[in-house]
Amino acid sequence: MDGPSGSGKSSVSRGVARALGLRYLDTGAMYRAMTWWMLQQGVDLTDPAAVAARAGEPEITCGTDPDGPSIQVGGVDVAGPIREAEVTGAVSVVAAVPEVRARLVQLQREIIGAGDIVVEGRDIGTVVAPDAAVKVYLTASAEARALRRTAELAGTTVEAQQAAMARRDTLDSTRKADPLSMADGAVELDTTPLTLEEVIGEVLSLVKERT
Ligand code: DC
Repeated sequence: MDGPSGSGKSSVSRGVARALGLRYLDTGAMYRAMTWWMLQQGVDLTDPAAVAARAGEPEITCGTDPDGPSIQVGGVDVAGPIREAEVTGAVSVVAAVPEVRARLVQLQREIIGAGDIVVEGRDIGTVVAPDAAVKVYLTASAEARALRRTAELAGTTVEAQQAAMARRDTLDSTRKADPLSMADGAVELDTTPLTLEEVIGEVLSLVKERT
């Protein structure tokens, strides 16, 4: 399940995993955990060589229960801190460093290799799991995406969210290493006019049809 921020990937992926009794992996949380650790260590994020040099160090572990996904760095639960503004503002820069991507893609493939799973991110269908049985690319209008994020976060406005998301989307889709793009064979689903249940229903029909 790939797509830009606010397209509904997490809610849809978790809903689909729950309905099918599958595991669930949020790869964005892994990029956020890497970013959180780099900030803790005082790594200069404006220096890609400095980020690359440390990318192999943090020990990142993820739980794959769709009802309670968890993420730790060096055994410390970081599920809360990785959603804070400092990490959100810095993660696209860290995720653009090829050494970071290589490390996390390897970890993701190890988790995926343990059995059937719903995986969400930006490069799942293109890079991480090009042989996935079902590939979905979720989109939604910029306004709908900003509205959803604003409802999730306190102390922000739709306008501020739309500007921050546009900045992140540009970085995520124009970076050289594995940019956000629709995979060959992916089905594009525009979630703007649909409820969450409707989107989950569409994905479940697709899974039924393809597997
Ligand atoms: O889905 P999210 O907003 O939690 O993702 C955080 C950042 O991580 C996002 O700006 C892009 C990056 N990311 C990525 O580059 N590749 C992935 N597979 C998942 C996320």
